[in-house]
Amino acid sequence: MDSFEINKIIAAILMVALLVVGLGKLSETIFYVKKPEIPGYGIQVENASIDSSNEEAAIEEKIDIVALMSMGDIATGEKIFKKCAACHSIIKGGENKIGPALYNVVGRKVGGIEDYKYSKALIEYNKEWTFEELNGFLTKPAGYIKGTKMSYAGLKNEEDRASVIKYLNQNSDAPIPLP
Ligand code: HEC
Repeated sequence: MDSFEINKIIAAILMVALLVVGLGKLSETIFYVKKPEIPGYGIQVENASIDSSNEEAAIEEKIDIVALMSMGDIATGEKIFKKCAACHSIIKGGENKIGPALYNVVGRKVGGIEDYKYSKALIEYNKEWTFEELNGFLTKPAGYIKGTKMSYAGLKNEEDRASVIKYLNQNSDAPIPLP
């Protein structure tokens, strides 16, 4: 191999190197994408509720339940309750069935029937059946109190829920005034 040939090889390598770099630059110019000032997708965090005080949140919830409880009526609730009656009694002195007796349930301690065998989840819940709690639970029982053994999908319709809660409240020694 003489020096001329070596030169040719070096020249060839240089050419390739130049081509690679050149192509890189060229494609950068062709496929130029402006980098966003803030990398990533702009996610707008709705932190209004985080910012607001607990008091405000409580008021907000109250407004919701007032609006909800203004819907429906006891007569509709009685009809809706037919879906619950397979598992629950509602009359005074009614027995536990698959589920606990529900007379007096509004305002009662969650899991409050002495001789009914509740799930651990309900016993440990440690709250009272307020309108808010009933609304949450009846929307989607297993989603609201994880581990409940009430195998019922829930009442998705707000008016149905409000109606059945009114009906539960009616079947009590001391119905609670509506919010
Ligand atoms: C398939 C049977 C079944 C149906 C249908 C059903 N429930 Fe229940 N319910 C249960 C069981 C079982 C429990 C006990 C849950 C536990 O211990 O986790 C329960 C618990 C409850 C409780 C809590 C009571 C307490 O003493 O703490 C309420 C309130 C309730 N159900 C309301 C309803 C209403 C209202 C409906 C109809 C919309 C309904 N349930 C439909 C089986 C049922």
